[in-house]
Amino acid sequence: MTEIGRTMGKARISRGELSAQSNNTPIKLRRLDTSDASYRARYAAECDGISDESKVARIERRMRDWIKGPCHVGIVALAGERRVGHVDGEIRGTRLVIEDIYVENAYRSRGIGGRLLEAISAEARGRGATVVEFDTESDNLAMQRVGRRMGFTLTRLYYERQLIDQA
Ligand SMILES: CC(C)(COP(=O)(O)OP(=O)(O)OC[C@H]1O[C@@H](n2cnc3c(N)ncnc32)[C@H](O)[C@@H]1OP(=O)(O)O)[C@@H](O)C(=O)NCCC(=O)NCCS
Repeated sequence: MTEIGRTMGKARISRGELSAQSNNTPIKLRRLDTSDASYRARYAAECDGISDESKVARIERRMRDWIKGPCHVGIVALAGERRVGHVDGEIRGTRLVIEDIYVENAYRSRGIGGRLLEAISAEARGRGATVVEFDTESDNLAMQRVGRRMGFTLTRLYYERQLIDQA
């Protein structure tokens, strides 16, 4: 996937984390479509620390094309009209590769991440996928926990070594 979708594992962003108030608004899920391109692009930009509006606009154009494309699958979580989370990915052959999943901080640990995984899995199944995969960082315990709860199993380990000194 391109820079726009490849936010899994980084997740150093916190869209809305500073401003959101926790509340009990019921959460609805729907398919993610091109009307979500701006939201999704801003999220991706924040993940990569991009604030330059021209770059954000470029990401949005690419995001829109990706969402319109034949391989994209996505679900968005709504509190009323407000988007408070999403999951999306690509169908590659018989696999759904999840590129990104996010729930706004104030709405976490209420099962929304699990619902998003369930919903995107159902979409993928309907489109012929037989396996769903995601990767995450070794210290992302919430993602690992929701994954395991939803029936994912660990199948691979990924190692890296830094070749330059970290500042
Ligand atoms: C990962 C994420 C999508 C989960 O969303 P969520 O709506 O909180 O998910 P759920 O409520 O369905 O499940 C979260 C589980 O993690 C647990 N959890 C939350 N914070 C945790 C922590 N710091 N350590 C361990 N477990 C934690 C919750 O208790 C819950 O456990 P349960 O399965 O026993 O109920 C959300 O935390 C998020 O958006 N994180 C930032 C983005 C991110 O990391 N995305 C994944 C990149 S790979």
